[in-house]
Amino acid sequence: MSKLWGGRFTKQTNALVEEYTASIGFDKQLAEEDIQGSLAHVSMLGKCGIVPAEDVETIKAGLNKVLERIREGSIAFSVSDEDIHMNIEKNLIDEVGPVGGKLHTGRSRNDQVATDMHLYLRNRVVALTGMLHELQTALIGQAKDNLDTIIPGYTHLQRAQPILFAHHLMAYVSMFQRDIDRLIDSYKRINVLPLGAGALAGTTFPIDRHFVAEQLGFDGVYENSLDAVSDRDFILEFLSDASIIMMHLSRLSEELVLWSSTEFNFIELDDAFCTGSSIMPQKKNPDVPELVRGKTGRVYGNLMGLLTVLKSLPLAYNKDMQEDKEGMFDTVATLEGALQLFAPMIATMKVNKGRMREAVNTDFSNATDIADFLVGKGLPFRQAHEVIGKTVLYCIQNSKYLLDLTLEEFKQFSELFDDSIYDVLQPETVVNARNVYGGTATSQVKAAIERSVQTQQATEEWLNVRQGNVE
Ligand code: ARG
Repeated sequence: MSKLWGGRFTKQTNALVEEYTASIGFDKQLAEEDIQGSLAHVSMLGKCGIVPAEDVETIKAGLNKVLERIREGSIAFSVSDEDIHMNIEKNLIDEVGPVGGKLHTGRSRNDQVATDMHLYLRNRVVALTGMLHELQTALIGQAKDNLDTIIPGYTHLQRAQPILFAHHLMAYVSMFQRDIDRLIDSYKRINVLPLGAGALAGTTFPIDRHFVAEQLGFDGVYENSLDAVSDRDFILEFLSDASIIMMHLSRLSEELVLWSSTEFNFIELDDAFCTGSSIMPQKKNPDVPELVRGKTGRVYGNLMGLLTVLKSLPLAYNKDMQEDKEGMFDTVATLEGALQLFAPMIATMKVNKGRMREAVNTDFSNATDIADFLVGKGLPFRQAHEVIGKTVLYCIQNSKYLLDLTLEEFKQFSELFDDSIYDVLQPETVVNARNVYGGTATSQVKAAIERSVQTQQATEEWLNVRQGNVE
């Protein structure tokens, strides 16, 4: 079979070169976007009088036929046609004859592939925003069910101060909100049309780039033709946003793994989301969060990979840039896989409230509060800290917790103690004392949940507008 670019060549391509340079093995994932872009391009060629109307209709019908065949899986893509763009063009010409060759007028694969990537990524960004939104909903649901559940809060993974479990979960809702905000913001830079840049310098044909942009639902066109075909910032930005999302998921994963260990026993993941051991009959392993934690590595790797590919590349297109795809596809699949599992896994997670309470009752996470109590009685905080440090040491040496001490024992450390400390030390009192905006007091966490639900509505509105672009 002859090449679409074969005119200048006197020899067949070396078979290994063909294999090595082809991208069809992975860019076939862009088939839908490639045809979507071609349909808009050929409509514009017709509108601008560059290709006669009847040829435009023939080409459109042919492209739709090729699309249908791709969807039903009856097209065999070929390595000798190198990539998805030439495979589709070849199939189009087979379908409609030489008139199909008019499709590529005023266009290059360089602006074509960039357009495909923009179309692809904007759909994925909308889908991923929806998935993050679902995960937030699951977290908020658990938070609502755990407004009375107190756990030890940690710093340095040492028990620090008691907090509501709902407050801990809502921290992740905030983290995923920043992720949603980043994706939504990145959409502005993704939703820009490169087509019309030609190979690098524009085209001699009287095309209408804005018409194509409008047809494809892009908010604008690239200002500079060289930049249009050379820019992969939007992919880097996506890979970076994806890395941060995976980092958040891996932090949550680590907590789920810890919490479901016998040592913590704070939660139990549903059987449907765990696996067993081939040798140890008692095992129930949290494989999903473990794998998400592990797969974070490849997502970071894809970001570093593309940053390195692009470093020092001269303008405009270079074949190196074909390396932008596999990492992006892999990141999308990895992220979608993780998010699809996380929402139902969180929603079905069982919370061992009793065990959490037991943990809070057997620690010193209320120590700050009696220090604050002494401060309330006029003692400078630094002295109060010292007094309570000694009190805690006394407890440890005598196998007691603060609430086990008699008032006489307390008074050995300071005359300022009175009966009211027994209330001050209760976990509920400790939690509700942090009644500051963003704090762990029940009323504050309730208000935070309210605000998140409102923010979620804003995301839903954005999704509704943008889902018009998703097929
Ligand atoms: N398969 C190519 C890629 O992914 C398409 C663009 C090819 N352009 C070219 N001038 N060889 O980058």
